[in-house]
Amino acid sequence: MLFFIDTANLDHIREAAELGILDGVTTNPSLMAKEGISGEKEILKHYRTICEIVGEGRDVSAEVISTDFNGMVAEGKKLAEVHENIVVKVPMIKDGVKAIAHFTEIGIRTNCTLVFSAGQAILAAKAGATYVSPFIGRIDDISWDGMQLIEDIYKIYDITGYETAILAASIRNPLHIVQAAKAGADVVTCPLSAILGLLNHPLTDIGLEKFLADYKKVNG
Ligand code: G3P
Repeated sequence: MLFFIDTANLDHIREAAELGILDGVTTNPSLMAKEGISGEKEILKHYRTICEIVGEGRDVSAEVISTDFNGMVAEGKKLAEVHENIVVKVPMIKDGVKAIAHFTEIGIRTNCTLVFSAGQAILAAKAGATYVSPFIGRIDDISWDGMQLIEDIYKIYDITGYETAILAASIRNPLHIVQAAKAGADVVTCPLSAILGLLNHPLTDIGLEKFLADYKKVNG
């Protein structure tokens, strides 16, 4: 399973990259706004910087703002020109599906975002999306079972042979990461806090403390 970080924060991206486990980055307009990135020039520059930090072969999802086919295609082409790592993120709406199918035809990779049902995931795969992003946390937020959706999509893609990768998004905590792995997600995208949260176990801390204390007993 690949690990992407879900942020536009350069410090967090660097920290995850330095950990040696980072396979890519996802962003969205809210995450870009959180970092105060605005205006086309600055936005494209920020994406280029992210691509350079993570290095070759690590996908960076950059989302279009347009909601009509022509706008999405124009924006997506511009984003794809920024760096070969760029994957164009397109919302799951009618024109979005049309745009994904077009991008597939012309060889631009896509991430279909805002996916909340298995039916939407089928459409995304049918259009040739590179990634489909079911939003686990937001489904849990309304008391539905986000992880069940990952299981359903996994089963459907397995039966049908769709090659779209399941990118579990809106991951909020370490347990979500473990559950997504069990449910068959190809990728998880999560904040740095969730990735670092995987490190924690009290028995690790207690065990390390004891090992070091025992070493000191005989080595001074
Ligand atoms: O990748 C989509 C993700 O950023 C949404 O996460 O926590 O805003 O639901 P969240």
